[in-house]
Amino acid sequence: MRFSRQALLAALPAAVVAHGGRQHHARQNPSGSTTSYTFSLAATNPTAVPLSAINSLQPSSATKALHSTAVAGSVPTFISGAPPLPAITALRAADYPDPDKPAPTDSPEVKRWIQEVKDTGVVIPDLSLNVAAPATGPICTAPENAAAAANSTARCWWTCGGCTRASDIADCPTKLDWGLTFDDGPAPYTPNLMEYLDEKQIKATFFVVGSRVFYNWQTLQSQYMGQHQIAIHTWSHYALTTLTNEQIIAELGWSKKIIKDVLGVTPNMMRPPYGDIDDRVRAISLAMGLTPVMWTRLGPNSAFNTNDFDIHSGTVTVDQALSGWKSVLDKANTIDTGFIALEHDIWQQTVEVATGYILPDALAHQPAFKIQPVVNCLARTMSDAYVETNNNATNPPVFKQAVDAGVVKVSGKPKDTSPAVSAQSAAGGILSLAGLMLGGLLAMP
Ligand SMILES: *[C@@H]1O[C@H](CO)[C@@H](O)[C@H](O)[C@H]1NC(C)=O
Ligand SMILES: *[C@@H]1O[C@H](CO)[C@@H](O)[C@H](O)[C@H]1NC(C)=O
Ligand SMILES: [Zn+2]
Repeated sequence: MRFSRQALLAALPAAVVAHGGRQHHARQNPSGSTTSYTFSLAATNPTAVPLSAINSLQPSSATKALHSTAVAGSVPTFISGAPPLPAITALRAADYPDPDKPAPTDSPEVKRWIQEVKDTGVVIPDLSLNVAAPATGPICTAPENAAAAANSTARCWWTCGGCTRASDIADCPTKLDWGLTFDDGPAPYTPNLMEYLDEKQIKATFFVVGSRVFYNWQTLQSQYMGQHQIAIHTWSHYALTTLTNEQIIAELGWSKKIIKDVLGVTPNMMRPPYGDIDDRVRAISLAMGLTPVMWTRLGPNSAFNTNDFDIHSGTVTVDQALSGWKSVLDKANTIDTGFIALEHDIWQQTVEVATGYILPDALAHQPAFKIQPVVNCLARTMSDAYVETNNNATNPPVFKQAVDAGVVKVSGKPKDTSPAVSAQSAAGGILSLAGLMLGGLLAMP
């Protein structure tokens, strides 16, 4: 069943009244009384779906076709040294593992990636695996994980306390810079979001799920050629601290592979699903050349999270999501750095909230935000977002940086005998990093 936006607007008007120079939203609730929202917005999109219509029971609205399709063989001129876009007619299911579940670890590909990780000499901390139902994120409070939670600072488990290491990106360094990110696509409503971003000339970072790339590879090509940054969000979206080392390697390896197959380049940033990373997951990611990118968090309960994801399931109302956005704004106004906030392009509701409310409000914010992909807020070019085109002189590959900073240790003589890889400096760095193991204070990238 499909409704046009016009029909929705006509059927369900949200009263918008002037309020202190800003717009204040009110709505009729089912009992007929008017409910005031607990926030006001500097601007909204005139064609937005009314707030009162954005909920878990919402009928599907139309998905849009990609308004700009990528042309096979064209060369992305905005990435120096990028290869031509691969010519694909169809991806073959037989070439990839099944969607939405961790891949087998005995395939030739995964065995090769496991060997490559070994060859780096990385020491993977021997930490107990956490427990989670496949689709649940908040595993910090699960009784089964109480011991790990008690040890969350030592193992630097972000989910449980917000610990980051020097290698993690958790904010943009410059005040008012917003590293705009969308997770979990590419999905049916991603083109709707991209149309709005193009209209406003906004570029973002998309953390994509490998097995969804399989079904939506044209969308991924269009995102990449539209100068958005593409980064990794695993193959199946399981919580990584619940998986074995080999399964984590498979999650990241298959994501790297399918993106390279579709784009010709390999991302060098990843976001762990649910932000679920500890030193074990971190060591594997870094050894695979992937920088963990979190979202900004000022304390255990002060994450820059719009909570947009849960409108679809009904656990969060659109009011609560937009209140979450307003609290992101309040925090962004007070901190000395820029920020990265959590948003998603997977559901109709997340896209409607972003294009109808959050982004218009952000664009009207004074002083103005500089909205950009994460790689750019780190003062790097889009070329530095991909392994093949990264400028290794000015932006050394992350594993080398992490070893030099003591975030990971290497044992023995790594096969890649890079002269700067020194186990001794790594050990010294571990000690000096103790000060960075803060349960939630700002960690600089
Ligand atoms: C706590 O974490 C540290 C650092 O990763 C680890 O060496 C230690 O074994 C852990 N202790 C427990 C009880 O899990
Ligand atoms: C940087 O090093 C990687 C290998 O780690 C290589 O694939 C890439 O081409 C190098 N970047 C440039 C610009 O040469
Ligand atoms: Zn996710």
